[in-house]
Amino acid sequence: MIIKACIFDLDGVIVDTAKYHYLAWNRLANELGFEFSIEHNERLKGVSRMTSLDILLEVGGLTYSNAEKVVMAARKNEWYLEYIYKMTPDEILPGVISFLTMLREKGIKISLGSASKNAMLILERVQLQSFFDAVIDGNKALKAKPDPQVFLLAAQELNENPTNCVVFEDAAAGIEAALAAGMKCIGIGSPEILGRADKVVPGFENANIELIKF
Ligand code: BG6
Ligand code: MG
Repeated sequence: MIIKACIFDLDGVIVDTAKYHYLAWNRLANELGFEFSIEHNERLKGVSRMTSLDILLEVGGLTYSNAEKVVMAARKNEWYLEYIYKMTPDEILPGVISFLTMLREKGIKISLGSASKNAMLILERVQLQSFFDAVIDGNKALKAKPDPQVFLLAAQELNENPTNCVVFEDAAAGIEAALAAGMKCIGIGSPEILGRADKVVPGFENANIELIKF
């Protein structure tokens, strides 16, 4: 079958922002009196900001009111933004620019489908906005992956049937969201975590049009 649109997750697919999320979440954990490990951070991939905070507090064995949690999430985001503002195009993951360029040349539509409310800012910092025909982020999609909403909105904005779309994802919740949307999906990372995807590749290095042929 011929794919007409590609929908990309952002964090972990186009850029490695997980390390910045980790630094900011661990700073919050330290203030609350505990250490948040890199292993714990794995659980936050693809998960919304407030759900990430709930996981962090569960790890620390702490309970707070909703009002307190809103304040904590906002502080974490301020620390996270300090890293994001320093990002440069050098941080785009290997092979991404040439893959996006190839898609453009072939007339395949491109959208972002991210849970992040900072997605637009990150695209601007790494200077990739011009590649995207549509950007669906955590401000537009209110239901978190594995709900398919973010990808269905992307297809709608691209004016494409979901069955003609393929999603690129690094998180298991994102793969489930793509499948629930009735789309093809390609896992970026390890087959152990992303085994439900139609294909899994380690990254975009040497990726060509064959990758999106099914
Ligand atoms: C996802 C990340 O892309 O965005 C998650 O994988 C993150 O780790 C989520 O929690 C929300 O991001 P933000 O930038 O809105 O806090
Ligand atoms: Mg991701």
